[in-house]
Amino acid sequence: MTTTMKPLQVGLLGFGTVGGGTWRVLRRNQEEIRRRAGRGIEIVAVSRRDLAAAREQIGDAARVVADPFEIVRDPAIAIVVETIGGTTLARELVLEAIRHGKHVVTANKALLAVHGTEVFAAAGERGVMIAFEAAVAGGVPIIKALREGLSANRIEWIAGIINGTTNFILSEMRAKGLDFGAVLKQAQALGYAEADPTFDIEGIDAAHKATIMSAIAFGVPMQFDRAHVEGIAALQAADIRYAEQLGYRIKLLGITKRRDDIAGGGIELRVHPTLVPRERLIANVEGAMNAVVVHGDAVGTTLYYGRGAGAEPTASAVVADLVDVTRLHTADPDHRVPHLAFQPGALAATRMLDIAEVVTSFYLRLRVADQAGVLARITGILAEHDISIDAVLQRESAEGERQTDLIILTHDTVEGRMNAALAQMQALPTVLAPIVRIRKEELS
Ligand code: NDP
Ligand code: HSE
Repeated sequence: MTTTMKPLQVGLLGFGTVGGGTWRVLRRNQEEIRRRAGRGIEIVAVSRRDLAAAREQIGDAARVVADPFEIVRDPAIAIVVETIGGTTLARELVLEAIRHGKHVVTANKALLAVHGTEVFAAAGERGVMIAFEAAVAGGVPIIKALREGLSANRIEWIAGIINGTTNFILSEMRAKGLDFGAVLKQAQALGYAEADPTFDIEGIDAAHKATIMSAIAFGVPMQFDRAHVEGIAALQAADIRYAEQLGYRIKLLGITKRRDDIAGGGIELRVHPTLVPRERLIANVEGAMNAVVVHGDAVGTTLYYGRGAGAEPTASAVVADLVDVTRLHTADPDHRVPHLAFQPGALAATRMLDIAEVVTSFYLRLRVADQAGVLARITGILAEHDISIDAVLQRESAEGERQTDLIILTHDTVEGRMNAALAQMQALPTVLAPIVRIRKEELS
């Protein structure tokens, strides 16, 4: 029987949130996992710099080492789990593990979004697997869904809430009417945001994840440097309020979309705050939860929801990868699921579009002088640029106030055209402050 085979030996790099969760889940559920994988999976070595802390956590259940290269070069180890993070040491370790013929499981989205092409090529040459379910949306099996469950489809677009920290901040801003700064402090105090939350709030973490999904959905190489990235730091409570009045919620979305209207085809890859109709399921995803909507030509729209971070939700994905790798360990490399869903020789060179070529609708907020003719002049400029208006909201001015907020929702337009119209509107003497512009997606 296969279950009597010797357990497959695993080396764990890093023993923080994800590494520690992986250790616990694998040990707690080891019998179930053995029955699923066909043999045991055992972490035999762990590396972290703080050896005393590691020994306290692990006891003598595994070898503890300070030098992670000791693990990636150990001939007894078949699979290396990388949970150190970052793009420097992690890259060296993963490439060294591959050179030594080891399969790699990683939760590191930054590493794959930035160095994925190099890592997958090295793995392909050596005939080893790189598994990375935990890298996008933590415990939500979105990689599996895109790569296997939806492989009959021509995927049209993906839109996801793929950063829990920013979704928590936006949820609190809406529920309590607070500004960004106040909620960020709360998120840090609660442990959602990192001490240096730059990658989260500037949209970089979401862009890493969107880059990975884009590559898998459309069969193109990882192109993080082509992603357009905007975070949530500039969002104001007033815009969240106005969006609500107009029937929308603001979410930080990672979006990637196929564009067949462009000669030769094109792909949009972008992360930015987005107005989404309140009635969409994704608009109601609150707190630190993640959700990804995928639209395929055959299946239509599908939604994947769950915890995108945290020790055990992320470990759920890491351990599932360990099971997959164990099942396929002895399979012919040509018969495994390709890393990016498409066969390596069949990747397309479809162009990643510049943000000026992206098509969306817009929410605009203009602080204007409350006087006759202002609205007509602004709508006139939009008409000159062939931008059609969907709705207008004018806040009533308080008594004695001589300025007001004008909110405009547009229909779809090319971003470059909107940029030209915005420059013209901003130059009007009756426009009194920088115009706020937030993209809007109907996701229908
Ligand atoms: P942590 O900071 O909690 O853990 C990192 C671990 O790596 C620590 O145990 C640290 O221990 C160890 N480490 C750091 N440098 C070295 C080194 N030179 N040699 C050996 N060990 C080292 O990070 P997380 O667990 O939160 O994140 C790990 C990865 O998982 C990242 O890529 C992250 O993006 C990803 N991820 C995280 C999620 C989460 O919810 N936290 C969710 C999804 C993905 P020591 O300091 O003792 O060396
Ligand atoms: N900082 C990330 C988040 C962790 O907030 O979603 C999971 O990748």
